[in-house]
Amino acid sequence: PDTMIMAKKKQVIVKFSVQNPDAAAADMQGDAPSEEVAKTLSDNTVRVAVVGVDVPDAAKEAAKASTAAAAPTETEEQEAGEMVVDPWSVKGKIDYEKLVRDFGSTKISPELLERIRKLTVGTGRVSDLHCWLRRNIFFSHRELDAICALQEKGMPFYLYTGRGPSSAAMHLGHLLPFMFTQWLQKAFNVPLVIQMTDDEKFLWKGEYDPEKGDNLGLYRRYTVENAKDIIACGFDKSKTFIFSDCEYVGHMYPNIVRTWKAITYNTAKSAFGFQGDSNIGQSAFPAIQAVPSFSSSFRVPLGDNERLPCLIPCAIDQDPYFRVTRDIAHKLVPKDHPLKGKPSLIHCKFFPPLTGADGKMAASDTNTAIFLTDTPEEIEKKIKQYAFSGGRQTAKEQKERGADLDVDVSYQWLKFFLDDDVELRKIEEQYGSGKGEEYWNTGQVKNKLIEVLKVLVKRHQEIRAKITDEEVAEWQHPKRKARRAHDTASNT
Ligand code: TRP
Repeated sequence: PDTMIMAKKKQVIVKFSVQNPDAAAADMQGDAPSEEVAKTLSDNTVRVAVVGVDVPDAAKEAAKASTAAAAPTETEEQEAGEMVVDPWSVKGKIDYEKLVRDFGSTKISPELLERIRKLTVGTGRVSDLHCWLRRNIFFSHRELDAICALQEKGMPFYLYTGRGPSSAAMHLGHLLPFMFTQWLQKAFNVPLVIQMTDDEKFLWKGEYDPEKGDNLGLYRRYTVENAKDIIACGFDKSKTFIFSDCEYVGHMYPNIVRTWKAITYNTAKSAFGFQGDSNIGQSAFPAIQAVPSFSSSFRVPLGDNERLPCLIPCAIDQDPYFRVTRDIAHKLVPKDHPLKGKPSLIHCKFFPPLTGADGKMAASDTNTAIFLTDTPEEIEKKIKQYAFSGGRQTAKEQKERGADLDVDVSYQWLKFFLDDDVELRKIEEQYGSGKGEEYWNTGQVKNKLIEVLKVLVKRHQEIRAKITDEEVAEWQHPKRKARRAHDTASNT
């Protein structure tokens, strides 16, 4: 999502108070997603007690929110330079520890990483854990351990991720979840579905123009263009299904109506901040992003299996959608679904804008982003001119104190794109202390980044140039991508 599409969202202020903790606890432990929550939300009061793991995610969220007596409005938060993270905007200095606490997700522990290593590197399908796992860029999760437990028993799952095709030009930040998902697909050898939310972008962006009509056609065109950049990430074609909501939504409709019925307007309002002036398509949209979490939405691509568990790699700003999804998931799957229908999640941090480490990179400001269409000269110029430096004012001071790596964008970006741990460590030590041979100053680190990105972007452009509209259509064809349980025949 772009920071541009904030629309007229205002923070909904909901007051929470604990009136009857026992009743609330009993209520939250059951399977039902707490009618109490819905009922009391309607008069802006909710009973919440923290009773351990069975509290619905949305209710936990609410409990946390209750600590702020009255949530500040968006503008107040912004004036204080505070962090704002939701599916439509990412602003301020991001405190990831706080995000994990506020959202109620879990940090990926070294033990969990070792489990993933055994299941992936251990099979020889990949040579090492992805550097974004090694470096904590994918840093948070929900029930990723449950997916590991299933895999340890030889049970399958599928991957689901997506993209809102907001413009023809994708930038490096947009590619992160896809590059990582490509690794996951290879490492676990599993099917993948990719949702292109042309409907979402249409609902949130642009106005009806009496002369030109609307822009739905435009977002459908962007879907095809963006799909080319996504395909260029190297997914396994025989196991990947890319779909446009506008085209595929009919197949998901039974699950969409189930989701609509399961989520009250009050829950949607508090999770997404809908207001009276939100259009009704926006209020309905969370169900569209929710239902690809259920394998029954993909009867053909996923081989008619209602019980296939789902893992969603995404940036952490997408979490609210899936928090709500997890709360109602049991209503959409058979009773013996291995994870009661709840999708697991693995969250990544934001890719910082070139001009400074706050917020995330936006397609709307060409100076803060490197686009996948940029020429080598543009890459070089933007980094030299705009990459925020944590280096010191004078050579003398730099040699004495070293750079502030926390705010140095070139170093931050190298953490994303320089796979070589030894080289990265060298930069960290030399630039961070100012005492290096190769990397003691900003110019040298910028040059390294320029070199790395030129190679990466050029390679991407070469692959993408060969992908035609016909090729995209093949990826969008709902063929079978997964084996049925117990089916050992090869997957064609
Ligand atoms: N809403 C997302 C965006 O604007 C697109 C999306 C749809 C998505 N389904 C997803 C992202 C699942 C991550 C995971 O970009």
